[in-house]
Formats: sequence, structure tokens, C-alpha cells
Amino acid sequence: MSAVNADLLFQPIKIGGKDLKHRIVYAPLTRSRAINNVPVPQAALYYSQRATDGGLMISEATAISPEAYGLGPHTPGIHTVAQVEAWKPVVKAVHNKGATFFLQLWHVGRGSHNDFQPGGAAPVAPSAIGITDKWEVYTTKGGPYKYPMPRALTEAEIPGIVEAYAQGARNAIAAGFDGVEIPAANGYLLAQFISSLTNQRTDKYGGTLENRARLLFEVVDAVTEAVGASRLGIRLSPFNKFLDCVEPEPYDTYGYIIKALNKYGLAYLHMVEPRVLGLLDVDVPEGETLQPFREAFDGPFIAAGGFKPDTAAEAVGTHAADLVAFGRWFLSNPDLVRRIKLGAPLTKYNRDTFYTQDPVVGYTDYPFLT
Ligand SMILES: Cc1cc2nc3c(=O)[nH]c(=O)nc-3n(C[C@H](O)[C@H](O)[C@H](O)COP(=O)(O)O)c2cc1C
Repeated sequence: MSAVNADLLFQPIKIGGKDLKHRIVYAPLTRSRAINNVPVPQAALYYSQRATDGGLMISEATAISPEAYGLGPHTPGIHTVAQVEAWKPVVKAVHNKGATFFLQLWHVGRGSHNDFQPGGAAPVAPSAIGITDKWEVYTTKGGPYKYPMPRALTEAEIPGIVEAYAQGARNAIAAGFDGVEIPAANGYLLAQFISSLTNQRTDKYGGTLENRARLLFEVVDAVTEAVGASRLGIRLSPFNKFLDCVEPEPYDTYGYIIKALNKYGLAYLHMVEPRVLGLLDVDVPEGETLQPFREAFDGPFIAAGGFKPDTAAEAVGTHAADLVAFGRWFLSNPDLVRRIKLGAPLTKYNRDTFYTQDPVVGYTDYPFLT
């Protein structure tokens, strides 16, 4: 990669009132090291290794309530005092390096298992429609297991979910985070409400597009009221196929959502490229592109998924994105920002250690440039 290209990634930009010095974002990455759902002390080292002066980082998906957990074991939460206290030194370590840090607020909906749920209950979802056996779930008891049939949330339960997002946002700010990211993406609860294939409700949260997006906007209203729009970013993945949460009309549906998001003055919109399916690279299906969404959004736009340093610089250079988030390459290159600046080679990630509970191996032991 030429030095000129890399320079494109080192232009300043303002995000949610924060002055960033470069365009390389740490993408949200679940690491399954939060034993019993509380961040471990090594998380401070892990995140601070990847923090840079004037950089933006987004935390791993963090559960907003006891019902919000799923996909795999030992993911963190932000709904208990112990969790808020455990996040504080992690945030402090990131701030000490001069980075801005957003917490990703998470509810997996049907992407869960009875083992995660209070009292062994069924996971909750917009409708009682299960995830097919194509996907597997691991719990603290083992796995792989099939995803169980979820139960449909009652209308009366929905205000509690909205409030859990708002309280999660308040708790994140109390822990020191600069803001929160809400994923209506990756087949998590809010995306399950948006897709007509996973949401077959007949109340005001189902049916029309406006109804299917209602929960997202109730959450956005509540969180902006709780912590302010400049502290909220939204993540969307219109072309997602993970957990069978497919959007049949991606352009119409997400075009409508983005137009409606414009009125808030959010910190940013963060979108996932069609070339990744969950954690895997796939060929881009014909005609799938983020470009119309990028053009429709009025604020800072982060693109994620399958970027390398040269394609990231190209995306910023051609204004396809304002910032680029790196997932796997940031996981395995704690000094990714420096390596990109220098054009240095990258260390390959090891998938086998993505989700182990080891506090060192595959977590804090990836090498720095010497
Ligand atoms: C180990 C791992 C964990 C992930 N965890 C999350 C997560 O917690 N929340 C989320 O929105 N996306 C998550 N993702 C998706 C990434 O944020 C990103 O979109 C994806 O890895 C594609 O970017 P990349 O090609 O730069 O890796 C995860 C990906 C990986 C590899």
C-alpha cells in the first residue's frame, strides 16, 4: 500500500462531539472472556492495547438485561452494579490512551438458549419462529446445541425492553463510556423485529414497515432522551443472513429507517458490508451495496466488513465511508493503526481462540511490531 493511501485514513473527523485523529475504528468483537458475564481485569489490557490517541473503539456486545444474553457463554453485561464497576477500569485504560469508547448495547432475542435464560425459560422474540439447525449455540453447559423455539414477547413486555436499553445507556455513561452503539443488526432482537420473516406480529409492532421499525425507534427515543443523540451510534446490516434473520426488501426497509434516523443527529451510523456473513467472508451477491445507505445518511458513516488497509483507504478516499471499522485484523493486530500508518504486514488471526475463556492466549498475546 502506498503511503499516500494510508494518509487518507489519518484525517481528523468529529464524532459525537469528540475530535478523532484517524478513521480506523475498532469494531465490536465478542471475545467470551467475561467470566459469569462480568468483564475480567485483563479486558483493560486487551482494549488498551488496541486504543490509540484520537481513535474510536466500540466494545463487544454487552447485555442489557438477564434475558438479553445468548450466542455463546461469558459475554459481558451492563445491568448490574458489579458489571458497571468492572467496566470502569477498562474504560479508564482506553481513555488513558486518548481513545473514544462506545459500548455496544445488546439483546439477542431468539439468538439464545434456555441455559442463558432466568429460570431456564425460552428465549424471547418478536414471534415464535425458531432459528434453523444451520446455526448452533454454545452455552456455559456446553454445545453445540440447536437454537430452541423462542416465545413471542407480549405487547405489555415491550416497554420493559425499551427501558432496559435506556438503563443500559445510563449505566454505560456511569461506567465512563463516551457513548453507546445499538445494533439493529446481525440477527439480534431489533433486527428480528424489522424483518417480516422473523416478525409476524399482528399488534402495533408487526405488519407494516413502520410497525416493524417501531421498537427500534422507541429504543432510539428512549436512549437519546437518557444520554443524548450525540452519544448514540446505530449499527445496521441490511444484507445479513446470520441466524436466518434475512431482510427481503433491504433497500426499502433500511432506506426508510435511515431517513427516519436522520432527524436525531446521531453520533454515527455503522453499517456492515454484504461481503461478510457473520464472521465469514462471502462473495458479494449481485447488486448488494451500502452506497445508497451511505448517501441517505446525513451524519458520519462507518463501514465494516472485509476491509484491508488499502480498501479502507480507498473507501475513505472515494467517500464511500467516513470511517472504516476493522474486526478480525484488529483482534490479531493490537497495533493495527501503527501498522497501517507504516504499511507494515499484519498478523493473521486465529479463529480457534476467538471465543475461548483464556485471559491471555488469543486475547492479550498477539504481537506488536518490534
Ligand atoms: C470474534 C468476532 C466477534 C464479533 N462480535 C461482534 C459483536 O459483539 N457485535 C457485533 O455487532 N459484531 C460482532 N462481530 C462482527 C464484527 O464487528 C465485524 O462486523 C465483522 O468481523 C466483519 O469485519 P472484519 O471483516 O473486519 O472482521 C464479531 C466478529 C468477530 C470476528
